[in-house]
Amino acid sequence: MRFGLVGTGHWARVTHAPALACTEGTELTAVWGRDPRAAAGLAAEYQATPYHDVAAFLAGVDAVSFAVPPDVQGPIATQAAREGKHLLLEKPVALTGAAADDLVEAVEQAGVASVVFFTQRFQPDVRAWLAEVQARGGWIGGVSAWLGSALRDSSPFNTPWRRDKGGLWDIGPHMISLLWASLGPVTSVTADHGPLDVTHLILHHQGGATSTTTLTLSAPEAADGLDVYVWGESGRLAAPRGSLDQVAALSVALGELTANARTGQTRHPCDVWFGRDVGRVLAEAQRQIEARISG
Ligand SMILES: NC(=O)c1ccc[n+]([C@@H]2O[C@H](COP(=O)([O-])OP(=O)(O)OC[C@H]3O[C@@H](n4cnc5c(N)ncnc54)[C@H](OP(=O)(O)O)[C@@H]3O)[C@@H](O)[C@H]2O)c1
Repeated sequence: MRFGLVGTGHWARVTHAPALACTEGTELTAVWGRDPRAAAGLAAEYQATPYHDVAAFLAGVDAVSFAVPPDVQGPIATQAAREGKHLLLEKPVALTGAAADDLVEAVEQAGVASVVFFTQRFQPDVRAWLAEVQARGGWIGGVSAWLGSALRDSSPFNTPWRRDKGGLWDIGPHMISLLWASLGPVTSVTADHGPLDVTHLILHHQGGATSTTTLTLSAPEAADGLDVYVWGESGRLAAPRGSLDQVAALSVALGELTANARTGQTRHPCDVWFGRDVGRVLAEAQRQIEARISG
């Protein structure tokens, strides 16, 4: 399957391009970037063709992998879906409900396959944990915190949209996705904020469980880390904290996307509908926090 890559930044270079190059059944044939020199440089490394014009870029590929900020991803992904391209999307799928709805509608009408890269959901050790969580059942709650330090000066992830949207929109999708998969669909959220970009969420899940999460990208490096556990009659079951091989995880996601595209399967546990639903939780949390700040 011929893939085009949208984006030429750090994440495209260290994760998307290598994963596209090493996954069986995918071929990186085209690179689009707003900076023609960066697109040419990345494309040359993979014997792909660089593009500046989106329509020309889309014309020669079967599927598109995205590594651009969410407000840039939304409209290009919607255009790509309308042209029948399968989508490997990044989280969050968009920054507004309207943009996410447009994308979902385009995917639905075109009947293309979609997968959103909620990274942990494609890690074998996390999948094994989720399988055990689901097999045991009987969970009463979940407790989680992701204290990230991406907004430190030296981080390659200290990018403009993260400085603007903070941990809620960057790592919030990963946490909500994990809690959703372990305790059931999220039915409501209550949000409050702390200093810097610290966000606290209380989630209610279908079936009655509740969970909490604390999110920030402004933690000191010494405090950096991710903790998740669910608890119930059988005790606590903590998610693995092992090292993340992001290229291997994306390769799993690409493999599942291409398998679905080949068989005409449009639904996936991490498809664009799920991405939109996670985004609705984030948007409601942001609305509540803004109301607290202004009120
Ligand atoms: N799943 C994960 O674990 C994970 C991890 C990291 C990142 N991500 C996701 O990957 C995406 C990109 O990551 P990032 O924010 O860290 O960015 P990044 O890797 O630094 O790259 C951003 C890219 O988008 C381009 N870009 C920025 N603003 C643009 C605009 N207005 N129009 C066109 N192109 C624009 C940049 O072009 P220039 O180089 O010209 O500025 C660059 O090519 C985000 O959605 C993020 O959530 C996911």
